[in-house]
Amino acid sequence: MEPEKAYVYLHSALHPSLQSEMEEHFHTIHPKELDAYREKITALFVFVAPVVDAALIDSLPNLKVVGNCAVGYNHVHLEACKRRGIRVGYTPQVLNDATADMGWALLLATARRLVEGDHLSKHPATTKVGDVKWLGMEVSHMTLGIIGMGRIGIEVARRARGFEMEVLYHNRSRRSQDIEEAVQATYVESLANLLSRSDHVILVAPATPSTHHMIGKEQFTTMKKTATFINISRGSLVDQDALVEALKTRSIAAAGLDVTDPEPLPRDHALLQLTNVVLTPHTGSATLRTRQQMVRMTIGNILGALSGGDMINEVPL
Ligand code: DGY
Repeated sequence: MEPEKAYVYLHSALHPSLQSEMEEHFHTIHPKELDAYREKITALFVFVAPVVDAALIDSLPNLKVVGNCAVGYNHVHLEACKRRGIRVGYTPQVLNDATADMGWALLLATARRLVEGDHLSKHPATTKVGDVKWLGMEVSHMTLGIIGMGRIGIEVARRARGFEMEVLYHNRSRRSQDIEEAVQATYVESLANLLSRSDHVILVAPATPSTHHMIGKEQFTTMKKTATFINISRGSLVDQDALVEALKTRSIAAAGLDVTDPEPLPRDHALLQLTNVVLTPHTGSATLRTRQQMVRMTIGNILGALSGGDMINEVPL
């Protein structure tokens, strides 16, 4: 006899083609049905939002596992999970390529002013091309500074080889010689040193208490005036007021952000008014293939936890 399917609360919505994969394994409960199923729910599914706070966790008396369908888990109240013995899964590795690609898309778009060029090309008043004053920043042969040389940082570095860039990286600890050689990246112990030497800076470090606001006024002042700054990690790593100031005063040239704090930004936020910013709505992993792999890993994580066995990737609590 088939085992009874578990009840999974979908705290985040799923792409329609992935919803059916979930339903093969679980009874799926949507937010509007939540109150009727609180007692039955044993697993919770979430992408990078909305937050999984202590109140939600405590309102599900039989919750056993949070299937976090993302590599970052800063939006999950880990303390509340730990208190109740609720296990938390996450999805490293499978999104490295898509997220690194997004970093590069933002870097190129920002450096070469793609969005401004798109607006100009489509503007009804545009009658000619080739304004001699229209210049962007060079990418090929320039210096790339990567902050955070984890799994995604490594993929960002690997792609820089195609652009024949010099690659510097800063990380909590130096990576092995094998990794450095494979991606041809040079470790720079001092963040200030990396910032002052890089033409393009990309932030790929995880959100932890020690990385909160790690990039602020002092760091933007240290960067080149021609530098672009890309963030594909989490908005909380950046002092956003300092970023706005740096962009307004042109103490850096431009920024490309897949992440902000909060998400989305209030509609009247200064970052939305600036032409030297390219924004995307936290879509680093948003391709069908990658999302499919993330959802499958999350299903595996939930099934593992509910059977009392191993999860594919479990957050240590
Ligand atoms: C993650 O998985 O944490 C990414 O931010 C998703 O894009």
